[in-house]
Amino acid sequence: MTLAREGEKSNIRVNTVAPLAASRMTESVLPPEILQNLKPEFVAPLVMYLTGDEAQESGSLFEVGAGYLGKLRWERSKGAIFKTDDTFTPASVQAKWKQVCDFTDAEHPQTIMDVDWMGILDHAKNMPPTKKGDELRFDGRVVLVTGAGGGIGRCYALMFAALGASVVVNDLGTSTTGEGASRAADVVVGEIKSQGGKAVANYDSVEDGDKLVKTAIEAFGRIDVIVNNAGILRDKSFSRMTDGDWDLVQRVHLRGTYKVTHAAWPHFLKQKYGRIINTASAVGLYGNFGQANYSSAKIGIIGFGNTLAIEGAKHNILINTIAPNAGTRMTATVMPPEMVNALRPEYVAPLIGYLGHESNSTSAGVFEVGSGWIAKVRWQRSKGIGFPVSQALVPEHIREKWEQAIDFSQGASYPTTTQESFQAVFENMTAGGASKSTKKPSAGVVTDPKIEAAKKVKYPTSKYEYTDKEVILYNLGVGATRKNLNLVYENNENFTALPTFGVIPPFQTMMTFPMADVVGNFNPVSNLSLQYLTFR
Ligand code: NAI
Repeated sequence: MTLAREGEKSNIRVNTVAPLAASRMTESVLPPEILQNLKPEFVAPLVMYLTGDEAQESGSLFEVGAGYLGKLRWERSKGAIFKTDDTFTPASVQAKWKQVCDFTDAEHPQTIMDVDWMGILDHAKNMPPTKKGDELRFDGRVVLVTGAGGGIGRCYALMFAALGASVVVNDLGTSTTGEGASRAADVVVGEIKSQGGKAVANYDSVEDGDKLVKTAIEAFGRIDVIVNNAGILRDKSFSRMTDGDWDLVQRVHLRGTYKVTHAAWPHFLKQKYGRIINTASAVGLYGNFGQANYSSAKIGIIGFGNTLAIEGAKHNILINTIAPNAGTRMTATVMPPEMVNALRPEYVAPLIGYLGHESNSTSAGVFEVGSGWIAKVRWQRSKGIGFPVSQALVPEHIREKWEQAIDFSQGASYPTTTQESFQAVFENMTAGGASKSTKKPSAGVVTDPKIEAAKKVKYPTSKYEYTDKEVILYNLGVGATRKNLNLVYENNENFTALPTFGVIPPFQTMMTFPMADVVGNFNPVSNLSLQYLTFR
């Protein structure tokens, strides 16, 4: 997105595809009967169309595979505004959480300029105070905030400490406010202690994440919350950007976030508890001139959080990502001084307090926050087009249906998992565009006589017999161990088959069905395969 903006004047167009196709990369994760339908030939025509002279599209993202083509864009909730006084707390965020996450009348921002920060602030200041509820406390919890020697991170550290947490204040920099060249982390620790709070300083770079976590364990014996906040800018137009500018920004933001999280992860797993708040930026969501290094690190942080949210789910480890806006040393280089003074970092902190609290159950969320306003962001995908899987796809077909493919006005969806994202591709593969599950077209369908013939085919009846042995083998195969006696020992009083065991009989039927004879290349891979994919 950043390069699309930088290249606009020079007729350089930049797009991104998220393909699903059979290749060396996917053959280890997808079953063979699905792979045979995922011809790379269904991806190439989109790339050819986008790189041709006619296409005007730039800065866009597409999902494509097995004849399906859809476009993605960010959708943002209207969100909630809070009075920017001392009633704006994590508890007040909790009270309005539904509103924050309500996508009624959502917006579809295109650039980082699509927010009137000063207008929102005016509104926020004139709101009635939020009703004070019980505080969300952090007594007994240990919170690590990176880059907490100044800016937004300092506000987080002060807030968590005031709510009872023991805080590790990390920062490798020197203070801009204290006398002389004191270490920034020491100054903030001093502030916390002078208010009766508990804190310890750490001066390492986030690239040495293990040292930060060690400080927490040595000082307080545990770690519960990490806020990956440290950051730097090395803004330059892409034509002037050096490898050094690129690498440094990636190292501090993306690698630093990874290193700190990786060091804390085993502690979170062991105690079955963890809250992680990562810091992205609107620049990562929408792109911005001169920030190719920073925007790619920031969008990478969102991808990182999405995966960890899945890995952490069953261990009560929740990960969320924020895109803040506040006047700080960092933004003083790009914002006018009156904005820097008005957009206080204190207006970002309450969201982090709520996301870091044990009462929060949201994970994998992305939020824009600043000026007393908090909104949630999610991907929206156009209904898209389903081309027949039994015919060759060429760029001309795509050109013909382009407006329909990128139309968000009807039938758009909101995939939140990889499975949901793949579903449109699989549905198209199953029926050349006609969704089996809904009996309605899944995308703008192009009909195909072979598909019509396939729909009329009658499946043979088959019988599936099994014993305890098959059930046990299956349970072991999907991860049961000797600790789960009810799954691996037939004489256990609670001995049971896992619900997904039910996939096997229909799967067998599918594999014995003579599909190729009936409809040429057509292979009715059904939703069963989706299930198969899911529990793997
Ligand atoms: P800031 O410059 O005031 O604070 C960042 C802190 O991180 C500094 O104290 C710095 O010494 C520290 N730091 C830098 N590299 C470090 C490293 N390797 N290890 C440990 N500490 C390190 O900046 P600000 O505005 O408070 O930014 C905080 C986070 O919010 C950053 O990740 C930034 O990218 C993000 N952000 C801020 C926005 C804003 O409007 N202020 C907008 C979008 C994102």
